[in-house]
Amino acid sequence: MGELGVIILAAGQGTRMKSDLPKVLHPIGGKPLFLHPLGIAKRLGASKIAIIIGHGAESVRRAYAGADVSWVVQEKQLGTGHAVLCARESFSDFAGDILILSGDVPLIRQATLAAMIERHRRAEAALTLMTAVLDAPKGYGRILRDPNSAITGIVEEKDASEAQRAIREVNAGVYVAAPQFLFTALTGVKNDNNQGEYYLPDAVGIAVSQQKNVATFEVDDAREMLGINTREELARMETTLRERINKQWMDAGVTLKDPATTYIDEEVTIGRDTVIGPNTQLCGKTKIGANCRLDGNAFITDAEIGDSVHLRFSVVLSQCRIERGAIIGPFAHLRPGTALGPNVHIGNFVETKEAKLAEGAKANHLTYLGDCTIGRETNIGAGTITCNYDGFNKYRTTIGERVQVGSDTTLVAPITLGNDVYVATASTVRNDIPDGALVFNERKEQTREGWTEKKRAQMKGKKK
Ligand code: UD1
Ligand code: MG
Repeated sequence: MGELGVIILAAGQGTRMKSDLPKVLHPIGGKPLFLHPLGIAKRLGASKIAIIIGHGAESVRRAYAGADVSWVVQEKQLGTGHAVLCARESFSDFAGDILILSGDVPLIRQATLAAMIERHRRAEAALTLMTAVLDAPKGYGRILRDPNSAITGIVEEKDASEAQRAIREVNAGVYVAAPQFLFTALTGVKNDNNQGEYYLPDAVGIAVSQQKNVATFEVDDAREMLGINTREELARMETTLRERINKQWMDAGVTLKDPATTYIDEEVTIGRDTVIGPNTQLCGKTKIGANCRLDGNAFITDAEIGDSVHLRFSVVLSQCRIERGAIIGPFAHLRPGTALGPNVHIGNFVETKEAKLAEGAKANHLTYLGDCTIGRETNIGAGTITCNYDGFNKYRTTIGERVQVGSDTTLVAPITLGNDVYVATASTVRNDIPDGALVFNERKEQTREGWTEKKRAQMKGKKK
């Protein structure tokens, strides 16, 4: 197998998005558009990748941290042909094949591109282009063929005659080319067209006139080559991508009760026999184990969840780790840095942040656990608050094993409670408590018999 180089065109503005954000930074499947073709380029084993940037160049560059690509700035967007030519220097000693992709075409499949590269190599072509037959070809470059159906060139929509616009075979905007041919041909491309641009597709006409071999590769599923120009197309493509991802997980043994309201980002993984309820969003690099139950209404970002975890209705989880057998929710909010051991229970209206709970610990009702470590089998009563912030700094609360924290307790950090401590209900605890101790606040309870009746009579008398 020969070497592969990839050029990704991503300098255009995307005027029709009506956005301050460069088009290729709009996300689909949870990541910016251009990272999709970039991911495929890497999976195809490209040894050199150049990304052509221009509009919003700095922010596009910041969206990818890797050092394995060359960024090529196209100062003025003079057309796709000019954009590719800007990468000439980057490929000066490159002898392999060059694959050209668009930053705004995210659904193209690796297998499709691999087959196209194979076709190009077999045909020993100077240039191979991907084509598709569309029912609505408007906006695309049309493929021109001679009576023997050999390709003769491409005409852009804006330059096409009425008869040419009726052609349904279009240029998908994906090319494989030999570098010597490509860059030389592009120096000969002119901008004498209705858009005043240097068109990359003009390389086809040049190859034909030089009697070079031009191959075409028709994509089976035209949805793969669709580009994004408007927000409506962005939404439609998000749906297509989502259907593709959902099908992949169902094929792998995951039950989705309502695929239409299940959103799974591309890098998420899910174990077998996990059952996912409606209105679930699994985002970022979330990992979910096998045999889990997600009752529904879950918004989960970058969480790592073990096997047999039960997420009851309505939970928000981000950057947290949950080990096997835990039960979370309903209505729980696990914030970054939360780490729950096996069989931990977190119940309704509980919020955690930087909270480590060891195996079997429980906090089932109305509680805030921030910056704390909680030992095995400890039970946190309803309405417990870790007071972790004094307006200037955050402090930690450490609680031992088998501790019983009574309801309506405030723990003023920094503070440490030993093992087997018993905190009486409605305590405010400010000092460290040794193992096995009871802590309570001195409070005098008083009862006034008949008080309510007297009070009511008094208040009624005052009423006008
Ligand atoms: C292009 C093709 C058309 C094809 C269609 C497929 C040309 C002239 N036409 O049209 O035949 O049917 O793609 O989607 O190529 N870009 C730059 N620099 C520029 C201009 C564009 O980097 O100076 C980038 C854009 O950001 C985009 C890609 O190139 O990612 C394609 O450009 P776009 O303007 O969308 O071309 P189309 O009009 O869609
Ligand atoms: Mg386009």
